[in-house]
Amino acid sequence: MSAHASVKKAVIPAAGLGTRFLPATKAVPKEMLPIVDVPTIQLVIEEAVSAGITDVVVVNGRHKHAIEDHFDHAFELETTLRQRGKVALADELAKISTMVRLISVRQKAPLGLGHAVLCAREFIGDEPFAVLLGDDLIDNDRDPGIAQLARVAERSGAGAIAVMEVPPGQEHLYGIVSGERLADGRIRIRELVEKPAPGTAPSRLAVVGRYVLPPSVWGHLATTAPGAGGEIQLTDALRQVAAEPEGLFGVVLEGVRHDAGDRLGYLRANLAYALKRPELRAEVLAMLRQLMDAHGDAHGA
Ligand code: UTP
Repeated sequence: MSAHASVKKAVIPAAGLGTRFLPATKAVPKEMLPIVDVPTIQLVIEEAVSAGITDVVVVNGRHKHAIEDHFDHAFELETTLRQRGKVALADELAKISTMVRLISVRQKAPLGLGHAVLCAREFIGDEPFAVLLGDDLIDNDRDPGIAQLARVAERSGAGAIAVMEVPPGQEHLYGIVSGERLADGRIRIRELVEKPAPGTAPSRLAVVGRYVLPPSVWGHLATTAPGAGGEIQLTDALRQVAAEPEGLFGVVLEGVRHDAGDRLGYLRANLAYALKRPELRAEVLAMLRQLMDAHGDAHGA
C-alpha cells in the first residue's frame, strides 16, 4: 500500500443514467450494485482511502439517497445486529460510515461526465484532485490505481490519467489517447479522441476511470461546450490540459480493470472478486465447473 500525501480530495461521479443496466438501475444507481456483497462504489472509495485520500465528493443523480445512506451511520441496524450477537458485522457497518469524509452534491441533469466533475468544483477548490469513476474497478491490493497516478502527477506537476490497451476493434467504445512514450513508460499525451469512429483511432490506448487533475481543468470544464452525444465531455477539457506546458500524462495502470457498468464486465467482476475470497473460492469454482458441464464447456457446444 502506498499512502500518498499530496492528493487528498477525490470526486466520484455517480449520476449517470445507467441505461446499459436497466431495469436494475431504474430505482438504484449502478454504483450501488454489489460485487459479491459490497457495493461497487464502496470498493472504489476503499481504493481512494488506501491511497491516502481523506475527502470524497460523490456526484449524485436522481437516486441520491441510496449512496448517502450507505455511507451514513445505520444506528438501528447496528444496534439490532449487536443485540443478536452479530458484532463483527455491526463493526463492519460502523467502519463504512467512518472510512472517509463524504460530501454529496447533486447533478440536476445528466449532462455528461465533464459536467458531473464540474459540480464538485467548490468543494475541491484550487488543488490537484482525483477522479474515480464509481462503476470502474481497478483491482490491485498492493498499489491502488489512483496512488499510481498520484505519484506521477506529483513528480511532474502535471495531470495523470489511467490508460489501458484495448483489443483491436474496441477503440470506438472508449476515449483514446496518443502521444510519445517516455523511457519510464509514461505517455506524454498529444491527442485525445472520445469514442472515435471505427477505423480512425490514433492508438489502442483507452482512458479508463481514474484521473489526477490539476486545478486548471476547472476553467476548461466551465467553458467546454457539449460535445459527442450532446454531453459535456471530460475528454474535451483534458485535451486543453494536455496543451498546457506541464501537460497531461497517460499511465498504464498495474492491476485488473473491470467495467462494472457493463453487464458482462459486472458478471466478470463478481466472479473475479468471489474467487479472491478464501471462504467462497472452492465453491465458486465447483459451481462454474458444474455450469460449464451443463452448458457445454469452452471446447464444446
Ligand atoms: P457512463 O457513460 O459509464 O455512465 O459514465 P452512464 O451514462 O450512466 O451509462 P450508460 O451508458 O447509460 O449505461 C461514466 C461515469 O460518469 C458518471 C456515471 O455515473 C459513471 O460513473 N456520469 C455520467 C455522471 O455522473 N453524470 C453524467 O451526466 C454522465
